[in-house]
Amino acid sequence: MVEILECRTLVKLLVLCHLIFSVAVSKVEGRIRHYRWEVKYEYKSPDCFKKLVITINGGTPGPKILAQQGDTVVVELKNSLLTENVAIHWHGIRQIGTPWSDGTEGVTQCPILPGDIFIYKFVVDRAGSYLYHAHYGIQREAGLYGSIIVSVPNGVSEPFVYDYDRSIILNDWYHKSTFEQATGLSSIPFVWVGEPQSLLINGRGRFNCSLLATPSLEAGVCNATNPDCSSYILTVISGKTYRLRISSLTSLSALNFQIEGHNMTVVEADGHYVEPFEIQNLYIYSGETYSILVKANQNPSRNYWMTTNVVSRKPATLTGLAILNYYPNYPKKSPPTLPTAGPLWNETAQRLAQSLSLKAHKNFTHTPPLTSDKVIVLLNTQNKIDGVHRWSVNNVSFSLPHTPYLVALKENVNLNRVFDQNPPPENYDFENYDIYNVDAQNQRRLWYNRKCQVL
Ligand SMILES: *[C@@H]1O[C@H](CO)[C@@H](O)[C@H](O)[C@H]1NC(C)=O
Ligand SMILES: *[C@@H]1O[C@H](CO)[C@@H](O)[C@H](O)[C@H]1NC(C)=O
Ligand SMILES: *[C@@H]1O[C@H](CO)[C@@H](O)[C@H](O)[C@H]1NC(C)=O
Ligand SMILES: *[C@@H]1O[C@H](CO)[C@@H](O)[C@H](O)[C@H]1NC(C)=O
Ligand SMILES: *[C@@H]1O[C@H](CO)[C@@H](O)[C@H](O)[C@H]1NC(C)=O
Ligand SMILES: *[C@@H]1O[C@H](CO)[C@@H](O)[C@H](O)[C@H]1NC(C)=O
Repeated sequence: MVEILECRTLVKLLVLCHLIFSVAVSKVEGRIRHYRWEVKYEYKSPDCFKKLVITINGGTPGPKILAQQGDTVVVELKNSLLTENVAIHWHGIRQIGTPWSDGTEGVTQCPILPGDIFIYKFVVDRAGSYLYHAHYGIQREAGLYGSIIVSVPNGVSEPFVYDYDRSIILNDWYHKSTFEQATGLSSIPFVWVGEPQSLLINGRGRFNCSLLATPSLEAGVCNATNPDCSSYILTVISGKTYRLRISSLTSLSALNFQIEGHNMTVVEADGHYVEPFEIQNLYIYSGETYSILVKANQNPSRNYWMTTNVVSRKPATLTGLAILNYYPNYPKKSPPTLPTAGPLWNETAQRLAQSLSLKAHKNFTHTPPLTSDKVIVLLNTQNKIDGVHRWSVNNVSFSLPHTPYLVALKENVNLNRVFDQNPPPENYDFENYDIYNVDAQNQRRLWYNRKCQVL
């Protein structure tokens, strides 16, 4: 009797809990953001030079994904590349509970075959600025990339204020096809791709057509007045504050970004709020995203240059240009000044200072575990394996498995054939490491839920 009563009470409680839970959930339950994309090759002239690029729904960069924290993003992707597979990775999205949507071909999925449709479905669980890019071959360098903006839930405020939100993706651009580049890089002897022909700001750059060694046989291959390569223009209203989400997806270049006459306050880095700090130059490496606040507080009767320059390597690429246009000036009117020269390419003090200034915002810190079960030291090197240059981590270079790892786990195929069962190399010999004497090896596994400290 007592048991039955308790049981009934429990049932009532459960029903009550369920009701409360449903109400709570229905309030925060995210929306579905549905995107239908077609990926194909098209001729475009992002820097005035015509070549085949990969577009999504006709554009490169692809469409911006806009969602709110907690929403489910559904991307129905049709591969119309005719002769090439495709896969898209959602850079910075954690894919909790949806590892098969991570888009890393050979790791979490088989590539999407020509003519096929694959549906990516995942929850964006953290507000912030992220990216997406191709993860098959080097299709990213052919223009297959874009940005993901996740806003905070209703009623939640961010630790800074602004009037308008805009995003800018930086990239470096080559005229040779990705096939030619990849073939050269994996040839013996090695054929270096060289420095990029131009720097793109939101998919637009300017290549000086008169620099072409031999005039092209086909008229209009390089056309300085092609609308594809007209500069990106950011129109601002005097007195307003702009949040610019700046990201980079270069294949080679480390970049610097400046807005003539305007300071920038860094407030977010890779999806995390940071203690604000002011800079004149933003240094940005491939795969990074920052949010900066810019106040339109300069003489509003003219326009200003936004510039990007190569740093770290001796530049052989023209400055990438865009225009900061003060409304109501004519948007395309060139600023009366010469584009700001970037900092010295080999200047390191400012770069170090930026890295040292990046600190988690004090209201958004996550305390790391005090102890770890393992300490792993990772050393990233460029090795020569069977005569070919390959990147390696602790003497192991990635090679695509025959069956994608996640598929192998699901199908329970003999994992010995997929993973090397030996523990991964967790250290390296600092003194005697020979970065050139390395072979390709299989991937290794770590145990789930172990706490690791990675150095
Ligand atoms: C940080 O948190 C404190 C205490 O909750 C609050 O008073 C302050 O406004 C917050 N700062 C920002 C920038 O959100
Ligand atoms: C383009 O290159 C030519 C030849 O080197 C040079 O004379 C010209 O000034 C350049 N134009 C621009 C806009 O840089
Ligand atoms: C260059 O582009 C402009 C604008 O699209 C076009 O009018 C012109 O015919 C093009 N020139 C050549 C040689 O194709
Ligand atoms: C930008 O910052 C520098 C150094 O802090 C300062 O001297 C300068 O006045 C600032 N410029 C603007 C436009 O705020
Ligand atoms: C930086 O590079 C320039 C040439 O681009 C050179 O003159 C200068 O000495 C270099 N500075 C340092 C510190 O290496
Ligand atoms: C890297 O691996 C190869 C073979 O797999 C081995 O011969 C070489 O000694 C290793 N190098 C280092 C520095 O451990």
